Amino acid sequence: MREFVIKSVVTEYDSVDELPVDHVTLVMRAREATGSAYTPYSGFRVGAALLLESGMVVTGNNQENAAYPSGNCAERIALFYANSQFPDQAVTAMAISGIDKQGNRTEIPVYPCGACRQVILESETRFGVNMVLYFDSGAKIRSVRSVREILPLYFDQSSLFPGDR
Ligand code: THU
Repeated sequence: MREFVIKSVVTEYDSVDELPVDHVTLVMRAREATGSAYTPYSGFRVGAALLLESGMVVTGNNQENAAYPSGNCAERIALFYANSQFPDQAVTAMAISGIDKQGNRTEIPVYPCGACRQVILESETRFGVNMVLYFDSGAKIRSVRSVREILPLYFDQSSLFPGDR
């Protein structure tokens, strides 16, 4: 029997101005995208902005539904849209921002839910390109170089069944 520790590397920025220049806009676009979220049930507005290889930015926001599980998160809406419209373009970065019920940017960084992490992972493996993720908040911004930093021991169909794809 043995135990081992799994480490994650997380970068923390005190303000958006410290980010690499092409990623500053991305965080701004994620903030802006919260404005079109449809959240009559939770009141929590999330915006996601994706940077494609071409330099194009695609945004999305959470869309809720009276049949609660039918709604979807900002990250998956943005990512599925990007992959459906630009199937040959890897997504190189994603920024996520959130507005709470009181209308303020969240005090703590917004991290993607488990289902979104799994979908982000598949985008990374599909294109063979890591996605830099930014988790925005009213104060600091945190970042990881790949979703694998926040999804240890992940399920990866392609490595379990290499012949399938
Ligand atoms: N939500 C997102 O859009 N992204 C996240 O990372 C976390 C949660 C949405 C789902 C739901 O509309 C609302 O936030 C409350 O959970």
